[in-house]
Amino acid sequence: MKKIILTPLLAVLSISASFANEAGKNAYMTCAACHNPDGKGLPLGDKKMAPSLVDSKVVTGDASVLALVILKGIKKEGSEYMGMMAPLEAAYADDQKLADVMTYVRQSFDNKAAAVTKEDAAKYRAQWADVKEPVSRAKIEELTKKE
Ligand code: HEC
Repeated sequence: MKKIILTPLLAVLSISASFANEAGKNAYMTCAACHNPDGKGLPLGDKKMAPSLVDSKVVTGDASVLALVILKGIKKEGSEYMGMMAPLEAAYADDQKLADVMTYVRQSFDNKAAAVTKEDAAKYRAQWADVKEPVSRAKIEELTKKE
């Protein structure tokens, strides 16, 4: 009896949850090419294309820093990863799309940080408008520590 009631209820719940996440999931497709659909970084031989986004302070900390990394990229300083965190400003020129991808990474892969609204995304874009080149790891550390 219990099972008969629960099964359709769970189906409805999982359908509505997946609708809510769909925009974010789509917006994450670009990132997945390097960070892998599971967020852990695409393995490539004995290295990885990109680091894991699971438990990353840059992902779950101050959202303005996450926006900076996505929009401007990270200066390539080492060869630990096969890929490069390229500036993705052109691909996320839409504030809603930027908000969607930020919310997706902050709330997926067991990350549990606050969602980012379209208004927040617009604010971060304006905040970093003067930054013209990929940010250094040192700068990211410094900004992350401020939290
Ligand atoms: C072309 C490959 C590539 C793509 C596409 C890409 N990244 Fe990255 N990402 C990297 C690499 C490589 C690094 C590590 C950079 C370094 O430290 O030198 C990185 C680092 C990061 C970091 C810093 C993680 C930490 O804890 O230090 C975040 C956050 C991040 N990426 C998010 C994203 C998001 C979100 C997207 C999609 C909007 C994305 N990346 C798309 C390759 C990529």
